[in-house]
Amino acid sequence: MGSDLERLKQDWLDRIAGAGDLAALEAERVAALGKQGAVTALLKTLGGMSPEERQSEGPRIHGLREAVTEALTARKAALEGAALEQRLAAERLDMTLPVAPAAEGSIHPVSQVMDELAEIFADLGFSVATGPEIEDDWHNFTALNIPESHPARAMHDTFYFPQNGPDGRAMLLRTHTSPVQIRTMQSQEPPLYIIAPGRTYRSDSDATHTPMFHQVEGLVIDRGIMLGHLKWTLETFLKAFFERDDIVLRMRPSYFPFTEPSAEVDVGYHLEKGRRVLGGTDHFMELLGSGMVHPRVIAACGLDPDEWQGFAFGCGIDRLAMLKYGMDDLRAFFDGDLRWLRHYGFRALDVPTLSGGVGA
Ligand code: PHE
Repeated sequence: MGSDLERLKQDWLDRIAGAGDLAALEAERVAALGKQGAVTALLKTLGGMSPEERQSEGPRIHGLREAVTEALTARKAALEGAALEQRLAAERLDMTLPVAPAAEGSIHPVSQVMDELAEIFADLGFSVATGPEIEDDWHNFTALNIPESHPARAMHDTFYFPQNGPDGRAMLLRTHTSPVQIRTMQSQEPPLYIIAPGRTYRSDSDATHTPMFHQVEGLVIDRGIMLGHLKWTLETFLKAFFERDDIVLRMRPSYFPFTEPSAEVDVGYHLEKGRRVLGGTDHFMELLGSGMVHPRVIAACGLDPDEWQGFAFGCGIDRLAMLKYGMDDLRAFFDGDLRWLRHYGFRALDVPTLSGGVGA
């Protein structure tokens, strides 16, 4: 009996060791330890034995069951381990690859400058507002105190659509970002501190004008706003944008129908190897238009001009990009020439921050 059990045990251990996969191993487990299993049947014979027999055979049969159970557990672990090894070898995730191997695209300087503007003005408490590029006549002109007969309409070289808008007049491509002033005053409660960067359109084309160009509008509506707030805001913005403390502004009286008084803002520059570099007071050039929001514009938006005042400014974004990053022909901005984009473009992860320098 003893050597029989030994052989039986070796037999099971061999079978278990020979199970090639988890399904085969499970079949061996059922054959040995299942309800109808061979080892289970042996355990059942204990019941029919005399007490003496049971005392000698019991431990041996239980020992057999234990040895088989242990072998099953060990083989299972080995098979599972092998299966895992195989998966690990087959499923590859190469963590050493760079996130963007030799990035193909780049951020256009106009997008970069818009991000820089948003960052600088966010720090001053301004949020970003938007409006449609296809505008109606009322938002683009009338609400901005430019009535039908006003010569400013002709100055804007407007692209008109054949279709009329809700005001019964031809829809148009907005000629400036100023209609966003109107939309913001109509849709939000003052105090308002916003900038509105975006595309604008005028029928005009040469080295410094393209039919589509970019502007950023600034608008503040609050109580007790004065010209000094406008000048401080522009100075703070331009110093941060050009990353120099020697930016000098000069305000020149000017005229816009939607501001009163109006001021053209000139900025000082000097020449370095024939290139214009902002800073200092050697020369001045015109940079942007601005002024105190005309009471009629405030009233057209349903606000009381005796309670609310504000300033506004409008600045060409493409111009800002050219001055900061040194391009000299505006038309190249929109040619889509890959060589130009690779040279002047920015890497996608170079997000401008005030702490890291908005210059990228
Ligand atoms: N909208 C004006 C332009 O396009 C600029 C401007 C904006 C002037 C806001 C004053 C105030 O020329």
